[in-house]
Amino acid sequence: MNIAVYPGSFDPVTNGHLDIIRRAAKLYDRVIVAVLNNSAKTPLFSAAERVELIRRVTSDLPGVTAEAFDGLLVSFAKSKGAHVIIKGLRAVSDFEYEFQMALLNNKLCGDIETLFMVTSSHYSYISSSIIKEVASLGGSLDDLIPPGIVGDLLEKLGKGRT
Ligand code: COA
Repeated sequence: MNIAVYPGSFDPVTNGHLDIIRRAAKLYDRVIVAVLNNSAKTPLFSAAERVELIRRVTSDLPGVTAEAFDGLLVSFAKSKGAHVIIKGLRAVSDFEYEFQMALLNNKLCGDIETLFMVTSSHYSYISSSIIKEVASLGGSLDDLIPPGIVGDLLEKLGKGRT
């Protein structure tokens, strides 16, 4: 079975992430969306909440699962029998950092390859932080995050549904 891990903070999952997940699901038998638990960032949603949101928006994709992890990404991937890490590239500015992480992960575990997928141009400007800012300022979240989680985000920000 070909298993890939798609790691990130997912605070919260966006349409950009979902685009990568859907496309990766066509390439691999199983895609494990790996939610970083001990991020240096202070997350809005707990790791368990972020996992639940991802499970909800990927419920139509039988090969996709989500779970939280901490520690080294390569250790998590190995423990799941995955040999591929998928990362999305939104712009050239993502590349330097991603390149460094891919080389480091390969140094830590030579069996694991990083596969970069180019984010659809439609989503290349999206990040979780920018979406939280739009939501907190009352802007429309149409096309930015899956409709099924808009209520969760607004509630978390104390905004209620618009
Ligand atoms: N669509 C929309 N947004 C995207 C995106 C996409 N396709 N791809 C990335 N982003 C955004 C995220 O929303 C996030 O935005 P934010 O900063 O506003 O929250 C930003 O890009 C960064 O992504 P993030 O998910 O935080 O990932 P990262 O590139 O910082 O790496 C891990 C996260 C989990 C892969 C990394 O921290 C890790 O591997 N940690 C484990 C510890 C470890 O093994 N360290 C050694 C590895 S080098």
